Amino acid sequence: MPGWTRAHFRRLFPWEADRYAAHLKALTPQGRRWRFCGFLGDDILEAHAARAIDIGHVEGCFLDGRLIGAFELIVDPPPARSAQVALSVDPAHHHNGLGSELIARARSRASLLGIAALELQIQGDNAAMTALARRAGASIKREGTDFAATVAVPGTDPRRLPLALLQDEASLLQGMFSLMLGAARRSVARTLRNGASSGAREPRGGLAGLAP
Ligand SMILES: CC(C)(COP(=O)(O)OP(=O)(O)OC[C@H]1O[C@@H](n2cnc3c(N)ncnc32)[C@H](O)[C@@H]1OP(=O)(O)O)[C@@H](O)C(=O)NCCC(=O)NCCS
Repeated sequence: MPGWTRAHFRRLFPWEADRYAAHLKALTPQGRRWRFCGFLGDDILEAHAARAIDIGHVEGCFLDGRLIGAFELIVDPPPARSAQVALSVDPAHHHNGLGSELIARARSRASLLGIAALELQIQGDNAAMTALARRAGASIKREGTDFAATVAVPGTDPRRLPLALLQDEASLLQGMFSLMLGAARRSVARTLRNGASSGAREPRGGLAGLAP
């Protein structure tokens, strides 16, 4: 059974933009080109991560506290009932079905938002994403050297709304917990560092005081 099956999925929040950017930066150069239909530098990825979380729905897969996969869903302005989607999976976890799980989750979130179709831009040489989109039932059109894939989204089932609300609340709690844990860790590390450096100065000062 792939490792990610014991991972958990949750939405990312604005204070987690650095984590999302670190995940995107960890793609291989080829993966980064496929993900962004062109090569982007680290600073642009950082700005992209922050903006995507601000304006869209970004959901991540966490394994042992590490973000190993994510999808971004950016809803197109009305009257379009579509959304742009892009996926990324940490290279160490490719070919284990995580990409397929992410597209299924993107579809399910889109359904809750009343979206009728997911749109994906796929580079012509991205065999993994093209195969994945095909398996997800996408209709695929060639656009120059690239592909435009459209995945149909089922209508909203109102019975799923309470569960989705609960999941969103759980995401928020987990996100806040992770924020507080990070702050607590940094504060303990600072205290230990300060203690170590004042402790290191102390004996020196003491010895200096004893020196003839
Ligand atoms: C595309 C990507 C998300 C796929 O993630 P993944 O977790 O490896 O995908 P899955 O394991 O769910 O694979 C789904 C299907 O895609 C196909 N596939 C996966 N990798 C493939 C490859 N290298 N070549 C051909 N087909 C491949 C297979 O049909 C696979 O089904 P199978 O497991 O039954 O063989 C991942 O490769 C990635 O992050 N790439 C870099 C970023 C990117 O290209 N994003 C897409 C931008 S829209």
